[in-house]
Amino acid sequence: MQLVIVFLLSALLPLSLSHRQDPLGWLYAPRAQGYFLGTLQADAAAADCPDECDCPPSFPVAMYCDGRGLTAMPNIPSRIKYLYLQDNAITAIPDSALSNATNLVWLMINDNQLTSEAIDTKVFLKLGSLERLYLQHNNLSSIPVNLPRSLRDLRINHNMIEKVTPADLEGMDNLTIFYLHDNAITDIGSSLKALKSLTLLDISGNRLTKVPEGLPEHLHQLYLESNSIESLPEGFLGGFNQLEYIRMAHNQLTDKGIPPSTFNVSGLVELDLSFNKLERIPSVSSTLQHLYLQANKIKEFTLGSFCGLMDITNFSKLQTLRLDGNEISREDIPTESALCLRQASTIEV
Ligand SMILES: *[C@@H]1O[C@H](CO)[C@@H](O)[C@H](O)[C@H]1NC(C)=O
Ligand SMILES: *[C@@H]1O[C@H](CO)[C@@H](O)[C@H](O)[C@H]1NC(C)=O
Ligand SMILES: *[C@@H]1O[C@H](CO)[C@@H](O)[C@H](O)[C@H]1NC(C)=O
Ligand SMILES: *[C@@H]1O[C@H](CO)[C@@H](O)[C@H](O)[C@H]1NC(C)=O
Ligand SMILES: *[C@@H]1O[C@H](CO)[C@@H](O)[C@H](O)[C@H]1NC(C)=O
Repeated sequence: MQLVIVFLLSALLPLSLSHRQDPLGWLYAPRAQGYFLGTLQADAAAADCPDECDCPPSFPVAMYCDGRGLTAMPNIPSRIKYLYLQDNAITAIPDSALSNATNLVWLMINDNQLTSEAIDTKVFLKLGSLERLYLQHNNLSSIPVNLPRSLRDLRINHNMIEKVTPADLEGMDNLTIFYLHDNAITDIGSSLKALKSLTLLDISGNRLTKVPEGLPEHLHQLYLESNSIESLPEGFLGGFNQLEYIRMAHNQLTDKGIPPSTFNVSGLVELDLSFNKLERIPSVSSTLQHLYLQANKIKEFTLGSFCGLMDITNFSKLQTLRLDGNEISREDIPTESALCLRQASTIEV
């Protein structure tokens, strides 16, 4: 719209008035130049676009090469910001492949055949603007080195990663989403501590035997299901201030492994402890809305786990409670539960 106005304006100006004299020249000249450059760029888009990819003229900063049976990296013009390479059979990323692609903001290269050995060490070094990196469903055995610190969303789930070290993630101050699920991680040490902005962490489907140390304090969602965790550290949830969703289904948790009051922290909305070895219902906060405890070994319905002091004004916010696949039946639920669990619309036994 601005461009049109500028052009109309210049058309109305007397011919004798050159740009140099025109008091408004500074205003439209650079823009007009930008406009012509843009057209040139769109034309160039067709010329420098590799045959195997699509570069839409209407969106000259994107290049689509997904699902084309590629086994090697295409040439990437330096103007590209959004690069789609997923669903191919690419086996390697040599240092040269991304050396010109320094403007990349998104790199989708998930669902390929990448191994860690075949990603050269300097591949990511110059990608200072990269925010989104999708590497899931490859054959990686470690987190690639020299990942850009600018990343906000890193997905590296469904690989064969066994270990994560602090150096892998150091300085990633803006990382918000981190998918690490379905790998073979046994040890993650305190590598996650550095991730100041992390809100969603998914490490489910790994081989953890304990909760990672130093979890970032701003987490909203923590997914740890399908590991081999037997116990939780004392005060495990004390350090978080925004944690709402915890999923720990399919672990080896026992009553003994859960310190009293672990889950009696306010703010929690959903807690999934299904498919563990619990014999009692753990105490939970009155703010909790969804509690999944199916397929444990629970033998008794302890109303006190939901409602500390019976208080007319302070009842549980629980809406969903799943207790099916345990060792109790509906008769084990005391009638006074209705007073405390007055918002529970689903109680499955
Ligand atoms: C990078 O850019 C240079 C100069 O434009 C060019 O010679 C080279 O072939 C490019 N490399 C790749 C991998 O595209
Ligand atoms: C990647 O893993 C799959 C499944 O394990 C295997 O079939 C394939 O050969 C592997 N590819 C490479 C390049 O190692
Ligand atoms: C994180 O984001 C802020 C604001 O967008 C930016 O100024 C900063 O450079 C980013 N940090 C890194 C390590 O890229
Ligand atoms: C949870 O902790 C509060 C104090 O923070 C306490 O009043 C309440 O009784 C506890 N609830 C349960 C079920 O233990
Ligand atoms: C309900 O109990 C919590 C502690 O569990 C307390 O902080 C809150 O003030 C109580 N609310 C009312 C209305 O009594």
